[in-house]
Amino acid sequence: MLCTTLVSTDATTLMRDAAEHCDRLCHEALAARGVFHMALSGGSTPKALFNLLAAPAYVGRFDWSRIHLWWSDERYVPLDHPDSNYCMAREALISKIAIPAGNIHATPVQLSPDGAAAQYESDIIRLLGSAAAFDLILLGMGDDGHTASLFPGAISDFPPDHLVIAHYVPKVGMQRITFTPKLINAAHHVAFLVSGKGKSAVLDRVLHGSYQPDVLPSQLISPVPGETTWLLDRDAAGANF
Ligand code: 6PG
Repeated sequence: MLCTTLVSTDATTLMRDAAEHCDRLCHEALAARGVFHMALSGGSTPKALFNLLAAPAYVGRFDWSRIHLWWSDERYVPLDHPDSNYCMAREALISKIAIPAGNIHATPVQLSPDGAAAQYESDIIRLLGSAAAFDLILLGMGDDGHTASLFPGAISDFPPDHLVIAHYVPKVGMQRITFTPKLINAAHHVAFLVSGKGKSAVLDRVLHGSYQPDVLPSQLISPVPGETTWLLDRDAAGANF
C-alpha cells in the first residue's frame, strides 16, 4: 500500500493541487489504458474542485470524450434533488464540459435502494471488468471519520463480496448507496480531499491512531496495489504534518 500526503497552504491552493493531481492521473491512465474512470463524491470540498475543473484554466486539459464519471456514494433522492451528489456535480462540472452523455454513470436511484446498488454494481463490472479497478476514486472525509457513505457503527454487517450496497444511515436519516471498501480498495488511485480545521483532530486519529474501522471507517481505505493520496490544506493537517 502506497500512501502519500500532500499539504497545501490553504483551501484555494488545495483545489489547484487536487486539479493538477486529477490531470496527471488522467493523462497516465489515458496513456496506459485509453480511458479514465473517475468516481466522484459529494460534499462541499469536492464541489470546489469540480468548479475549478470546469474553469478555463483546466477544462481544455481533459479529453472528456475518454473520461467516465461515476459516484462513489449517492443519497437516495431523485437526481434533480438539491441533496443529490449527481445534481451537485452536474451543476458544478458536467453542465459546463463537452462530455458524452454515455460517459456519465449516475446511480440509478429510480430503482429501489437495493435494486439501484445491484444495478450499479453490474454496470461497473460491465464497463470495468470483474476486477473493477477505478483509475481514480475521489473521497471526502466527514468530521466523524466517515468516507463515501461508510459511517461509524454501520460497517460490520456489510455483505463482504458486494461492490456497491444500499443502507439506511440513521445519522443522516436517509438511504445511501455507496461503494464498499472492497471496491474502493481495488482502485488504481484513491484521493482524499480534506479541508478545514474541523477535520484536523479526526484526521490525526484516522492516520495515526489505533485501527478501529467501525469507529473510523476512513481507516478501511487502503488500496492494494493502488495508491492513496491525502490532499489536505494546512488547517486540516494541523500540527500532524
Ligand atoms: C456525501 C459524501 C461524504 C462527504 C464527506 C465530506 O455524500 O456526503 O460523499 O462522504 O464526502 O462528508 O464532506 P465535506 O467535504 O462537505 O466535508
